[in-house]
Amino acid sequence: MTDQMPIQGYHHIEFYVGNAKQAAHYYRTAFGFTPVAYAGPETGVRDRSSWVLEQGDIRFVLTAGLEPASPVVAHQAEHGDGVRDVAFAVPDAAAAYESALARGAQGVRAPEVVEGDHGKVVVSAIKAYGETNHSFVDASAYSGVFMPGYQPVGASGQAQGATPLLTLPASEPVGLTTIDHVVANVELGHMQTWAQFYEDIMGFSQLVHFDDQAISTDYTALMSKVLWDGEGRIKLPINEPAQGKKKSQIEEYLDFYRCPGVQHMALATDDIVATVARLRANGVRFMRVPDTYYADVRARLDLDRIDEDLDRLAEHSILVDADDEGYLLQIFSEPVQDRPTVFYEIIERHGSRGFGVGNFKALFEAIEREQQARGNL
Ligand SMILES: [Fe+2]
Repeated sequence: MTDQMPIQGYHHIEFYVGNAKQAAHYYRTAFGFTPVAYAGPETGVRDRSSWVLEQGDIRFVLTAGLEPASPVVAHQAEHGDGVRDVAFAVPDAAAAYESALARGAQGVRAPEVVEGDHGKVVVSAIKAYGETNHSFVDASAYSGVFMPGYQPVGASGQAQGATPLLTLPASEPVGLTTIDHVVANVELGHMQTWAQFYEDIMGFSQLVHFDDQAISTDYTALMSKVLWDGEGRIKLPINEPAQGKKKSQIEEYLDFYRCPGVQHMALATDDIVATVARLRANGVRFMRVPDTYYADVRARLDLDRIDEDLDRLAEHSILVDADDEGYLLQIFSEPVQDRPTVFYEIIERHGSRGFGVGNFKALFEAIEREQQARGNL
């Protein structure tokens, strides 16, 4: 983070989806998000509808197009449901935009003042990897729900003193607190280009680099660089596929998303066991962990430094990794749409600023051992 580009945190993540009403229902019932705002035909927006949901500090916007010519529909047809915008909160959206363009960014939305009953928001946006954008949002002079043009939904309507446009049953939060990191998949040979982009344009620096030795097995390989703002509010790992004997998971993503894009978002919790138990009860499916994984953990990590009951973690298939600074607990969902593209990580950190690199190899190898046992490798 530099003085020229101060970023306060994530403002929201906007997804372009095929059916925003149903996606909002999924994030409410499965992930425990609370719908807070809506824009669409009922609010005077003709070509799209957007649902805004929140949990902790996390804010998702789910947008669907309403006519064949809509760019949202075109995006969804090409990529399936996916992340269109990783939006950052900034103190000055015009200055952020001018600064980014001066350093070589491509603008997609010149600074615009959006005004409404509860004040004004200034928004601008630049292009990032693939068809992903970064919006800059200054909402310091706005007190309404999400942005001007949106109307309160459900309980947020009462908070605003208005009759809610739409009423929805209250959601039950599952304990998600913040966005820990947002991971991009880019094409082979492009990881450094995008790392440089975040260094040059955003003033980020490299937190860590994983080469294909760190994240590889005999069959699968990827490389990753993590760019961050220097304070930990924004962490953006960038993956590219590496040469392996089989198609890497990064290549599979690129084949189905048809361009670079957001691969997964890690959502933080203070109690991963409780959060995962509730998510599972709500029907969220997670990647299976072979029993051999926990035998590996006992051999790999110094368990005296990890204040967790390993049997309990195993019961919930929660992964654990440690480094000099501490440890972390994590689990990965299955993709949340039909294409094998976007998925979620749930993470609980205890000092470690890592990303579970020890797990990648252990997990992939454990899975491959099971494949081998079935005669499929
Ligand atoms: Fe991650």
